[in-house]
Amino acid sequence: MIYILDTADLEAIKHCNEYYPLAGVTTNPTIISKEKADFWDLLKEIRNIIGYDKMLHVQTVQKKAEKIVEEAKLLKKELGGNFYIKIPISEEGLKATMEIKRQKLDIGVTITAIFTPAQALIAAKAGADFVAPYVNRLDNILGDGINVVEEIVCQLSKYNMDCQVVAASFKNVEQVHKCAAAGCHSATVTADVLENIVNHPMTSISIEGFEKDWASVYGDKTILDL
Ligand code: E4P
Repeated sequence: MIYILDTADLEAIKHCNEYYPLAGVTTNPTIISKEKADFWDLLKEIRNIIGYDKMLHVQTVQKKAEKIVEEAKLLKKELGGNFYIKIPISEEGLKATMEIKRQKLDIGVTITAIFTPAQALIAAKAGADFVAPYVNRLDNILGDGINVVEEIVCQLSKYNMDCQVVAASFKNVEQVHKCAAAGCHSATVTADVLENIVNHPMTSISIEGFEKDWASVYGDKTILDL
């Protein structure tokens, strides 16, 4: 299971990159628009924070395959490193995926806005490295996001596809946990969800107890002071 951060908020990226075992950052046009920043400055700063080894997924805003490929090349040239172009599933998106792979451009492809296992399978067949099903958006319409993720994981494995699932659109820890239990390869989550994975009221109570008991004998000294 790998964790990816789903934001373009530089402070959140700095924080989470320092404190969490992150494999990279995903963005989409909505996420980027929220920052109201210069596009290239923002993306280059994200690359600067996470470095060249970690994945950076950026979504195309083009609709035609030729333009998607052109945009992917420009993004790769400007941002370098471990780069993935995110392409919403469509005929043009599949065509662009096949072209990027045919040209061996060293650009990863994440087919995004996936809502069914059938979409995921055909995206994998076209050469996608990742497919991104939207768990919470499915849950919002009683679409059982976890079940969709599980079916995609099973299908990709059944047909030995060289494609991983990056489950996306999470609103809570339970969704992430259930995706992991379903054998999902990775999850892209917000900083809030990431922090909630770690925090637990019983953990806080336990730590408070350790601190109180220690202080009752050793005061404010730590092991380094003894
Ligand atoms: C992946 O990067 C998706 O674009 C993203 O997770 C969608 O999340 P949302 O449903 O919270 O907008």
